[in-house]
Amino acid sequence: MFKKTILCIGAGYVGGPTMAVIAKHCPEYKVVVVDINPRRIAQWQSDNLPIYEPGLDEVVYIARDRNLFFSTDVDSHIASSDIIFVSVNTPTKTFGQGAGRAADLQHWEKTARQILRNSSSGKIVVEKSTLPVRTAAAMERILNSNDKGIHFEVLSNPEFLAEGSAIKDLEQPDRILIGARNTESGKKALEEIIEIYAHWTPKEKIITSNVWSSELSKLVANAFLAQRVSSINTISALCEKTNADIEEVSRAIGMDSRIGPKFLKAGVGFGGSCFKKDILNLAYIAESYGLTEVSRYWEQVVEINSYQQERFVRIIVTSMFNTVAEKKIALFGFAFKADTGDTRESPAISIAKSLMNERAILSIYDPKASEGIAFELADYAGRFTVEEDPYSAAQGAHAIIVATDWTEFGSYDYQSIYETMEKPAFIFDGRNILDHHKLFKIGFSVHRIGRPPMSRLG
Ligand code: NAD
Ligand code: UGA
Repeated sequence: MFKKTILCIGAGYVGGPTMAVIAKHCPEYKVVVVDINPRRIAQWQSDNLPIYEPGLDEVVYIARDRNLFFSTDVDSHIASSDIIFVSVNTPTKTFGQGAGRAADLQHWEKTARQILRNSSSGKIVVEKSTLPVRTAAAMERILNSNDKGIHFEVLSNPEFLAEGSAIKDLEQPDRILIGARNTESGKKALEEIIEIYAHWTPKEKIITSNVWSSELSKLVANAFLAQRVSSINTISALCEKTNADIEEVSRAIGMDSRIGPKFLKAGVGFGGSCFKKDILNLAYIAESYGLTEVSRYWEQVVEINSYQQERFVRIIVTSMFNTVAEKKIALFGFAFKADTGDTRESPAISIAKSLMNERAILSIYDPKASEGIAFELADYAGRFTVEEDPYSAAQGAHAIIVATDWTEFGSYDYQSIYETMEKPAFIFDGRNILDHHKLFKIGFSVHRIGRPPMSRLG
């Protein structure tokens, strides 16, 4: 009764939301999302979805059990599908050649072999995961070197959604990019993928390219976005030395239409599962083609990101009389950005670890990321607590550190919080989101990123 069956392998932050939106807009397609992680699949089938993402529940509830299904049975769903999106994780390699920089493609290659094993007819295989440029060539070789006489067409369709705004980004994308081979079968497959997105995306926003440009564009988009964050963060350091104000500088340069206002927010540095891994991968690819200068250029973006976090911790320790040992410090925010429970590569991790290495005792509060805290800080058990509310986190603390830009952090009763804290009480706003003048009036010493401190201590 369905026109076609779409399968997505990998039910993570990308696979789940993307397929839910496709299923919502394309009721004539059957959309199945599979994963090897049974817990994740059970959560997708429940009222407690595995990821927090504004608007996600509504979209899933519209389509689930109508034309959207979740399953752990990867093999049989491969056999019965026409189009397969592959959205498995592609983390940085931790071993062997390219360790710490290259993408680990073992999940991806295993998936390709699994597709081949379970297919008795040709299929369209779509790279949804972020992959090194020219990965599709390797995939084509694995898939098409078969003796079953069947042909697989490999396309690239990278995902540009950001966490916290995934549903909005999927519903109203800036663009959909699809890379395909310029062959008869390539063009036919391309039309089939365009047809899916055309259900809700204006045609002019669906752009096509060759496969390699599509693969590379994804890495480059992330590299450019991260580069803007690192660029503004270097200037925040200069602002702190010169009494220039980073918010004023960002506003002034962002009004130049050639520069634009987005991604100019200075802070504790970028986190998330992708920026660092994708830039390191881009740098590694450049180096593997002998382009050492290109590689070094992009590596600097990651180095500046670490520098910004180290700098922030240095300011905290120095301001607190050069010692935080055995002092209680409240950490507000652990997710890598607001509106997500995701803690992967969060700047809060390195900040928390550095402070605990200085023997601080942390009490951590995050509205959605409690689960990730214990996981990320497992080696530091006993040196931190996870709190259910910000008021108990700050009680008896010498300082509050804001590590995530959750809007709710601006709405607390800081007068009451101040009264329960040790004095002098410090706030280190690593995201420049609080009302600093109000906090200073209450009695806090306030430290900001890229702006002069408001210190009561002379
Ligand atoms: P994720 O870790 O949340 O999800 C990946 C899922 O794939 C996991 O649930 C894992 O169990 C599953 N998986 C791994 N191997 C499998 C196999 N052989 N068979 C079935 N399932 C398997 O990762 P993610 O954040 O969704 O990212 C997926 C890809 O999308 C990555 O390449 C990433 O770079 C890219 N991407 C991520 C984002 C983002 O915001 N998270 C945005 C754009 C692109
Ligand atoms: C990013 C890209 O924005 C997406 O387009 C891409 O699809 C995705 O990576 C991916 O490939 O995984 P995401 O990491 O979810 O999305 O979130 P962003 O909004 O890009 O933020 C990344 C980090 O940069 C966060 O830690 C955020 O706080 C920080 N950031 C962002 C700043 O410090 N300042 C800014 O001005 C903007």
